[in-house]
Amino acid sequence: MNLTEFIEGRRDQHLAELLEFLRIPSVSAKSENKPDIERAAQWVADHLRAAGFKTVEIVPTNLHPLVYAGSLEAPGKPTVLFYGHYDVQPAEPLEPWTSPAFEPQSRDGNLYGRGTADDKGQVHIHLKALESLHQLNGKFPVNIKVLIEGEEEVGSVSLWDYVQNHKEKLTADALLVSDTAMLGKGVPSITYGLRGLNYYQIELTGPVRDLHSGVYGGAVPNPLTVLTELFAKLHDHNFRATIPGFYDDVAKVSPAERKALNKLPWKAKDFERAVGAPAYVGEKGFTSVERLWIRPTLELNGMWGGYQGEGAKTVIPSKAYAKFSTRLVPDQNPKKIAKLVEAHIRKLLPKTVHCKFEVLSTGKPWVAAYHAPIFQVAQEALQKGFGKKAVFIREGGSIPFVTQMHDTFKVPCVLIGFGLPDENAHAPDEHILLENYFGGIKAIACFYEDLASL
Ligand code: BES
Ligand code: MN
Ligand code: MN
Repeated sequence: MNLTEFIEGRRDQHLAELLEFLRIPSVSAKSENKPDIERAAQWVADHLRAAGFKTVEIVPTNLHPLVYAGSLEAPGKPTVLFYGHYDVQPAEPLEPWTSPAFEPQSRDGNLYGRGTADDKGQVHIHLKALESLHQLNGKFPVNIKVLIEGEEEVGSVSLWDYVQNHKEKLTADALLVSDTAMLGKGVPSITYGLRGLNYYQIELTGPVRDLHSGVYGGAVPNPLTVLTELFAKLHDHNFRATIPGFYDDVAKVSPAERKALNKLPWKAKDFERAVGAPAYVGEKGFTSVERLWIRPTLELNGMWGGYQGEGAKTVIPSKAYAKFSTRLVPDQNPKKIAKLVEAHIRKLLPKTVHCKFEVLSTGKPWVAAYHAPIFQVAQEALQKGFGKKAVFIREGGSIPFVTQMHDTFKVPCVLIGFGLPDENAHAPDEHILLENYFGGIKAIACFYEDLASL
């Protein structure tokens, strides 16, 4: 029996097993889910063993365990390191979910549930591709190392320590990741660039305690007003960030690359349907694709303070808070950007408030050439799995680990995503197109198989 027939014949089993994985609420951000995180790590380890790996380890860390597996029994063949994450974002808000986040359900060709697209569904694609190869041939076609972490959605802190201390164990000829999206339905894609991410939080304090707004209002500073004034100043009329120096290190993207990106079958209609806003804005002088993939941004992610309960409360709050972030592109340096952002904010703030400024996480952007032969193999494998030619894209999301690995090992990083941009990752009703899940297993199995002849 050939590989694709073998995989086709196991669709129901594969899907049933994925449901089992998705039912574990492996939310990395919440301590109440710690037992579920442990269960998910165990689940991954058990299924790696079932797929044919003899060396499987659950590695405890300061936070959530990593799962490592290795099979180095293909002498003379390349070694690939596959990376993914078993942790997921919190399901909240719960009310908008059509079916509960951790009770996955198939509807109209999609599978709904937290982690379907980001990233448990995509990790499972690799587990089943590898298992199929092992069952058919009694061995894997190449040398494979697997690293599945449980802290991706909270910043991958433990992972980085692990990489620094286990370089030997992780060396490979290529890094393989499935944690991104395709350009659109029916367009298999290989991602060669991601944005970086700095995340910040500020706390402004005016009065030492909340005040009666009648007794004191008019003669005292209001930190919430100061905060809104501050954020109103962080963009200009052309939707550019006003931080001095913010754009200084942005690498110039060649006219040829811009042309290629703008020629991709990216559909404004699909994008607008997914967003559903009354109208669209963005940095002047750039197309939407460019704004999303090759331009840095500053975004306000949350703002709070004062009274938010039922009815009215006449109060001047003592404190006001905001969470915000900058998406970064090559060659912006996250540490340097954080300094520029803090300096500008401190300069803009009046003397009437104290400001506590925190950088919660930093992550570098990534872009790389894709002419190594492995990219050709990936393209052909996607052709086999999807019957369509794969395109090379950049994306706006961030996977700081990819840059860290690329900087450390200087090997090709092959990002093959099976999500779609409108599958509600991090939001209610997250889903994955079943066609992409099943096609992904075929494509990835072909990829591992074809790597043997590289
Ligand atoms: N899988 C995503 C990253 C992603 C999304 C890449 C879409 C390409 C397209 C990952 O799980 C994620 O959510 N990353 C976070 C950053 C991380 C440091 C928490 C992000 O991009 O906001
Ligand atoms: Mn992810
Ligand atoms: Mn995510």
